[in-house]
Amino acid sequence: MLVGEEGYAIQKSMQILVALGEIFGADRMIPVSSVQVAGVSYYNLGDAGLEYLENLAGKGARTRVMTTLNPAGMDLENWRELGIDENFARNQTRVIGAFVRMGITPSCTCTPYLVGNKPAFREHVAWSESSAVTYANSVLGAMTNREGGPSALAAALTGRTPCFGMHLDENRTARVRVKVNTQLNSVPDFGALGYAVGKRIGADVPIFDGITHTDLEQLKSLCASIATYGGTSLFHIRGITPNPTQIPEERFFVTEKEIKEAYDALNDEASEVDFVAVGCPHCTVEELEKIANLLDRKKVTREFWICTARQTMQLAEKHGYAQKIRAAGAKFACDTCMAVAPLKGRFNILATDSAKACYYGRGTNDFKTRMGTLEDCVRAAVTGRWS
Ligand code: F3S
Repeated sequence: MLVGEEGYAIQKSMQILVALGEIFGADRMIPVSSVQVAGVSYYNLGDAGLEYLENLAGKGARTRVMTTLNPAGMDLENWRELGIDENFARNQTRVIGAFVRMGITPSCTCTPYLVGNKPAFREHVAWSESSAVTYANSVLGAMTNREGGPSALAAALTGRTPCFGMHLDENRTARVRVKVNTQLNSVPDFGALGYAVGKRIGADVPIFDGITHTDLEQLKSLCASIATYGGTSLFHIRGITPNPTQIPEERFFVTEKEIKEAYDALNDEASEVDFVAVGCPHCTVEELEKIANLLDRKKVTREFWICTARQTMQLAEKHGYAQKIRAAGAKFACDTCMAVAPLKGRFNILATDSAKACYYGRGTNDFKTRMGTLEDCVRAAVTGRWS
């Protein structure tokens, strides 16, 4: 591959992987069974990224393993309803076309594990979306580094990744013990935990002690926020997550005080909101059911985006949840999200149930943010007020 016997795209890809492996001291390449590619939104890629992808696709680049995509900059079907302009849509469609020509499934979701790309325990994969990487490592027990867009694509085209970091057992053991001395009840509570702990430990691998139960939605929220505010792509929860680990001596406590401080830090002063967005990471069908029930016989008065994978939305249609959500005036934002769509300047104050969405709402779009439960978000979408 490296000497070019398999063509230009493979050679370029292997050069990227070899360079990465040399930087991080890998001693070999290993096969991967699936890839998840980020860097899909034209908002972030721009013309240079689009050209790079079309060039690769034109030179015959084809994937060797199952490869799925992170969210794009728009709903690939209902972009007009979300206020996306024609020019952006044309370029975003070209980006997706290039990926599809390379053999990539345009699933456009940060929850690939909900829609068919779900690696098994100890399976080596090359994923790039940070919340999905953390979910794969921590909850599924798969093994992946946090790939950049180009290195994930290179892994997709070669079926290989350099063996370092999270592919090695010695880097997957806990380094710090976090004793959780408070009740965590909701999805944003787990987002607040990820904020508090991520800020404190950075990229260290933690083990949480004292969490007695979680659900999928809470775990995906924790994965998103701990990776965003810290940098780790793996955590353990004693008695819940599947990876073996040593229990370190060093520990610190998270109490009600730290969780409250996290909420305070993520909530700006604002009593009214003009944009409500949930589904960061993308909503599960259970969350869609809950939203449908909360919206029953109500009408929203604010732009309300429900970000989810298209397949998850289709499942919600079969159950009748999607129809209730649309009847209330809320909008599905399939294939995309509040962070990668071109939203700057359109809204001022975002209400969400996601700590990660607060980070990107502020950083990318200059929004003020309010974070609360799904119930708080639906109430804000209906009344326009945050109380
Ligand atoms: Fe997913 Fe977008 Fe959040 S990619 S994790 S919904 S920032």
